[in-house]
Amino acid sequence: MPQPAAETVVSRCLVIGSGIAGLQFALLAAEGGPVRVVTKKESRESSTNYAQGGIAAAVSPLDDFETHVQDTLIAGDGLCREDVVRKMVEAGPHLIDRLLGYGVEFSRDPGGGGFALGREGGHTQRRVLHCRDLTGSEIEGRLLAACNAHANISVDEDHMGLELVRGSEAGLSGSAADRIVGARVLDRRTRRVVLHLADAVVLATGGCGKVYLYTSNPDIATGDGLAMAYRAGAELRNLEFVQFHPTCLYHAEAKSFLISEAVRGEGAVLINHRGVRFMSRHHPQADLAPRDAVARAIDQEMKASGEPCVYLDLRHLERAMVESRFPNLVAACRRFGLDMAGEPVPVVPAAHYMCGGVATDLEARTTLPGLFAIGEVACTGIHGANRLASNSLLEAVYFAERAAVAVAAEPRLFGPRVPVGIPAATLKPAAETVVSPVVVEHDWDELRRVMWDYVGIVRDRERLEIALGRVRAIRRTVETVRRRVAPTPELVELANIALLGELIVICALSRPESRGLHYTLDHPLRLESAVDSVIRRGRPLGTESCWDAPEPSLD
Ligand code: FAD
Ligand code: SIN
Repeated sequence: MPQPAAETVVSRCLVIGSGIAGLQFALLAAEGGPVRVVTKKESRESSTNYAQGGIAAAVSPLDDFETHVQDTLIAGDGLCREDVVRKMVEAGPHLIDRLLGYGVEFSRDPGGGGFALGREGGHTQRRVLHCRDLTGSEIEGRLLAACNAHANISVDEDHMGLELVRGSEAGLSGSAADRIVGARVLDRRTRRVVLHLADAVVLATGGCGKVYLYTSNPDIATGDGLAMAYRAGAELRNLEFVQFHPTCLYHAEAKSFLISEAVRGEGAVLINHRGVRFMSRHHPQADLAPRDAVARAIDQEMKASGEPCVYLDLRHLERAMVESRFPNLVAACRRFGLDMAGEPVPVVPAAHYMCGGVATDLEARTTLPGLFAIGEVACTGIHGANRLASNSLLEAVYFAERAAVAVAAEPRLFGPRVPVGIPAATLKPAAETVVSPVVVEHDWDELRRVMWDYVGIVRDRERLEIALGRVRAIRRTVETVRRRVAPTPELVELANIALLGELIVICALSRPESRGLHYTLDHPLRLESAVDSVIRRGRPLGTESCWDAPEPSLD
């Protein structure tokens, strides 16, 4: 029997991404067989690692599931899938228990009582479990330690997913020919392309904040999973709903530095350059309104005043409380020469979270057999048109669990050996021409600036059409280059953000209303019928009645 080619790896399950979603999934799925996690940089590097505010769950005796459900639905502005929201919210306490089991140390009330629960925009109750202001780092560290200690899990750092692979490309026939059975993965250290084959492939690649010039996201957030899924023919939904976080630090030397909404949850308020509070003029929930409303209000204040930022004011809060609750933020501000507790902190909105994504069902299945999506890369129906703060980490662990159950039932396609007859071309790296870094950098900057200037918090058709022309031109140039040179991480990421930029603009142009995070001057009001925007390669863009559309056929 022919031996597997050196560049081929076979596992029961391939996970792409090592944030909260990928790691939680790996830990559950590993009970059923070997799981391979590939991750494009150091394994910790993920949005998860930078999460501050915390993870929402109705665990307080003063709270209940129904209130958490209603807060989520209100924030989602009519596009959440209520049955899914309800299931996730009800699973909350048990998902938190599991995190505790991995050793996550959530902050406790002083005196050794219950959990210290924070509050954030859109929440009518205190329900955000946190580890002071370093929640993500604590969760990521504990999950990684558990994965590294598990005999059935291997985590390959510096391995970047490039493209998904169908069964037909791997020499499989019959119903397996149409399944997603693996991915081409670039080993960044050797620059070789490795073929990973698996019975199930799980995308856990996070979001795409880097599509925008200013973002809270780390550099890994280039929408790779979204782009791979789109190119493979999966359905994507609601990409126009890009969440802008209201309060990123405005400072020449601060890159992507978020000031958590939990700070407003403890009483901080937004003021303008004249020192005047403004949120109560914009929303009945004032400084704790849902994020879309706060970001729009800040945008409006900045445009009206011509000032480059607004300010977060904590001066009325007790310094000792601020320093013990937010030690990381206080220290970071100090590094930038700011006294967080003692002076107004300059802040601006920045791209933060992709509410749309690869469409999945309750089992995290995408529209392509064999392919699952979990975490920020997925559009599960939880967030609708605007995510409620701190629901993202909860959604990630909830769907990691659902996916692990579903994957266990997937058919076995591969034994320990690679099937005979994998076309050699599948294993070959691309031609060895190298593209100039200057070209990549120029297009990278231009694309992100166009998205920031024309596809931001407030939109209109004319500006979206200008953006479409420019972004499409960049995307086409990059695609042409990409076909004739060896894949470098930089070029692949540029191709992915260019594709995502174009898809976001197309979805934004298709929405004939303002809703949640999509606000357009052409249609300032919400239309009554709730619809998702649906996009898939090779099929014209359509909007379909939320989640009752017929199963899309596979091309
Ligand atoms: P990530 O944690 O982003 O992980 C993605 C993984 O995929 C990374 O390991 C990355 O390297 C890898 N990857 C990407 N592309 C490839 C590729 N091509 N090949 C291989 N690997 C790849 N949400 C909350 O609920 N509460 C909060 O308090 C909160 N605070 C936040 C603060 C900040 C600064 C940011 C940026 C986000 C915050 N969010 C918060 C959002 C939340 O952190 C993310 O939505 C969530 O962590 C996403 O988890 P994930 O596992 O889906 O993706
Ligand atoms: C924050 O801490 O403000 C971010 C919370 C979130 O994105 O859910």
